[in-house]
Amino acid sequence: MRARLLSFSREPQTPDDTDSFRYIEDGALLIEGGLIRAMDDFDRIDPAEAEIIDHRPHLVMPGFIDTHLHFPQTQVIASWAAELLDWLNDYTFPEETRYADPELCAAMAKAFLDLLTAHGTTTAVAYASVHATSAESLFAEALARDMRLITGKVLMDRNAPDALRDTAQSGYDDSKSLIARWQGKGRLGYAITPRFAITSTPAQMEAAQALAQEHPDCHIQTHLSENHAEIALSCQLYPQATDYTDIYACYGLLRENSLLGHAIHLTDREIGALAETGAKPVFCPTSNLYLGSGLFNDAKLRAAGLTNAIASDIGGGTSYSMLQTLAEGYKVLQLQGQRLHPFRAFHWITRGNAVALGLADRIGTLEAGSEADLVVLDARATPAMALRMARARGLMDELFTLQVMGDDRAVVQTYIAGRAQKG
Ligand code: GUN
Ligand code: ZN
Repeated sequence: MRARLLSFSREPQTPDDTDSFRYIEDGALLIEGGLIRAMDDFDRIDPAEAEIIDHRPHLVMPGFIDTHLHFPQTQVIASWAAELLDWLNDYTFPEETRYADPELCAAMAKAFLDLLTAHGTTTAVAYASVHATSAESLFAEALARDMRLITGKVLMDRNAPDALRDTAQSGYDDSKSLIARWQGKGRLGYAITPRFAITSTPAQMEAAQALAQEHPDCHIQTHLSENHAEIALSCQLYPQATDYTDIYACYGLLRENSLLGHAIHLTDREIGALAETGAKPVFCPTSNLYLGSGLFNDAKLRAAGLTNAIASDIGGGTSYSMLQTLAEGYKVLQLQGQRLHPFRAFHWITRGNAVALGLADRIGTLEAGSEADLVVLDARATPAMALRMARARGLMDELFTLQVMGDDRAVVQTYIAGRAQKG
């Protein structure tokens, strides 16, 4: 493949930290067996070695990584609600009951993964519904595409409609058999998924704890401290816990491969407790703005030593695009006097999220040995972007144009394990 190439080897510290990435104007990627074999100047690669796909003048980067979104909320986006708990009860829970139907799950799994790849996302960490069949369908569809995907059946045994509740025992049993079938198969991983404290009884939290202990390699995903009513109800339901974070800590659910959606309204005690465990807060900017949940304090969590991931949170989130996610993330941080530099932004949705998932040796860069998940970007995709780009002063302006104005229209092509996904 011939194109302009950009790949980060560590997080950029400042706008001038150009040693943190490799940018090759006339670059070549040698791809074989779904892996990147070499990344170099085009004139240093023997063209006889491979068929050349020419993506000049576009920019090729590692495919985007979305660390938190909900498969059964594909048709919930843009539901008009006052705040999180109303939105869940009025729209989201009723919608998720539809995922008891294996035929619907199979059709929606195709649509969901098509949408992700159309937006340049090549790895996703998704919540399925409470039904085992929803996770099963998503795994099967990702396997058919050789796509890297982490998902898990949601555990929820209270404060939800009858049709959306499992039990501590059935949730454990279903998770166990899904793990046996899918964890580590192809490029798939399982996430143990207690939805959040409100929808799990203490007995179910104990079951989640047992799953976590029995499967240290599985990710754990849940929601934490998204809005004030949610925090108050969680603490009321678990009166013995010091605070919301302590609920998950008590059940052994906080560790390096735990992903905590939102993590907005944390006390200093909670931030310290999280830092001790290595759990990963997940910034969901479009969702946090849309549901009016609050402003994620990236700088404060980072200063405490935490590694933050970033995600779309479809369908509380409003865009599948990690570019739009960065656009809204930028504004959330601006409101707090924190400036997200475009180099750090693009590191975040590629190698940064890979680090947060513990997968930086496989995805998130264009280095030799990485899996060949790629996005091909055009910063002149729309007339307005082309006019902005006519005045661009270099790579940083190009990236910022993509970040502020870009969406799926800027994604020319997406490759998964070396295979083009767009027609
Ligand atoms: N908290 C518990 N479930 C959900 C969900 O589906 N979306 C969001 N944004 N927050 C949640
Ligand atoms: Zn969520």
